[in-house]
Amino acid sequence: MTARFRSHGSGRFERSALGRCPDSVILEEDVLVFHPEQVFLDEDVYVGHRAMLKGYYKNTLHIGRASWIGQGAFLHAGGGIDIAEEVGIGPNAMILTSHHELPAGIVEGGDEIPILRRPLRFAAVRLEAGCDIGVGAIILPGVTVGKQAQVGALAVVTHDVPPRTIVAGNPARVLRQY
Ligand SMILES: CC(C)(COP(=O)(O)OP(=O)(O)OC[C@H]1O[C@@H](n2cnc3c(N)ncnc32)[C@H](O)[C@@H]1OP(=O)(O)O)[C@@H](O)C(=O)NCCC(=O)NCCS
Repeated sequence: MTARFRSHGSGRFERSALGRCPDSVILEEDVLVFHPEQVFLDEDVYVGHRAMLKGYYKNTLHIGRASWIGQGAFLHAGGGIDIAEEVGIGPNAMILTSHHELPAGIVEGGDEIPILRRPLRFAAVRLEAGCDIGVGAIILPGVTVGKQAQVGALAVVTHDVPPRTIVAGNPARVLRQY
């Protein structure tokens, strides 16, 4: 059988291949980095075991000073991810920045193009300084999480989160502000 999808590579990398990776950055064992030349890490960033930093051939993945990326987190930066300083990302959280284009409505005669084959649409995610993403939360394309905001465990964040706001649930709703 012919393979129809090509791998982006193994994800194994040399630190020196990253766009930026000061000596103070900790990358634990089994971290995978794709397109490392598009990945920029600032001082004192911590990346936990088995986290996956998926840079892309365009746009960048930037993680700001002293941010903490939990074990198994999945960051897909096709549309660009900008993480400010001292941001926490819980284990197994996911940040997505692309999706396949969907038909606007019902298509006469049906539309049989598999979603997987449709063009990709990209939208950047921004996590502002000091915010925190709970374990297993999913941040959808185009979302900005404001300064010092808290996203609850397992939340699915579909809209921007204002600064100093606590959200939880699927879809994420505001619990309170402070
Ligand atoms: C969202 C969160 C910050 C809320 O904390 P809090 O302000 O103390 O809120 P409370 O515990 O008083 O809960 C308020 C309400 O939200 C609900 N709630 C709390 N966390 C929730 C969550 N993750 N998902 C859905 N609902 C949640 C509670 O059941 C409660 O509902 P009720 O009023 O109907 O009883 C916290 O529960 C949470 O999920 N923290 C993330 C923890 C985490 O992932 N840490 C990472 C460590 S690396």
